[in-house]
Amino acid sequence: MSKSSAKNVHSFRDLKAAGTKITMVTAYDYAMARCVAASEIDLILVGDSLGMVVLGYENTLKVTLHDMISHTAAVRRGAPQSFVIADLPYMSYHLGRDDTKANAAALIIEGGADAVKLEGGSGERLEAIAAILECEIPVCAHIGLTPQSVRRFGGFRVQGKSPEAHETLLRQALALEKAGVFMLVLEGIPEGLGKEISQSVTIPTIGIGAGRHTDGQVLVYHDLLGHSDLLPKFVRSYATLNADITAALNRYCSEVRAGAFPGHENVYHPIPETEG
Ligand code: KIV
Repeated sequence: MSKSSAKNVHSFRDLKAAGTKITMVTAYDYAMARCVAASEIDLILVGDSLGMVVLGYENTLKVTLHDMISHTAAVRRGAPQSFVIADLPYMSYHLGRDDTKANAAALIIEGGADAVKLEGGSGERLEAIAAILECEIPVCAHIGLTPQSVRRFGGFRVQGKSPEAHETLLRQALALEKAGVFMLVLEGIPEGLGKEISQSVTIPTIGIGAGRHTDGQVLVYHDLLGHSDLLPKFVRSYATLNADITAALNRYCSEVRAGAFPGHENVYHPIPETEG
């Protein structure tokens, strides 16, 4: 991507205004980021889902700020021109304004992110967002099935199904827009609510399990590419990486055992002796 086509916080609102769907995918390391940067994807999320798909935890709660900084920095090295949002991990924006500001700034300064994302739309979250915006850092909010609330929700459960919960999420979306977030991720909510929120706010909404009417979609890299085992209903896989990788590893084993690898082209030779 050339510098002139690089995206900024305004680009996504322009895409929404033009009715062009926004494409986002997660990435967690240099190699993935290079593949994403070579594609037509609009922006990258370094999600704290890295705790589950990269580090093998059962949820995102153990992901640290240090994890997020080091993975964001790797993604930035692989995708120097891409717009990168980094997740603020659990408990990195819950303990007060100064702590929140310092943690958000670390993702920008040390990680190289363009913006940060945090979960929730309560009054306390609005205060955290105000603190981060005071540091001139763009904020993306995330409501609905927020994975950092897994203990309070009693599991990964679709949110906003009752009329009261529907109203609460709609109210939170409007309050988040007013607070100044530039983008809103909607996760695990009924399609009708995803549509109503997307039509009620001028900032772009990015859905994951939020139906067909959000302004864009985001998927976890491993889910999108068939590189994970558990596929939720809202995922579509566009590749079969797990099966392809296992088949490639097995071909390698067979060729080593059969003496077919390394081949002649894979070995080093001495410099031929010159005549005379
Ligand atoms: O951590 C993550 O990958 C996310 C997306 C699922 C939105 O927050």
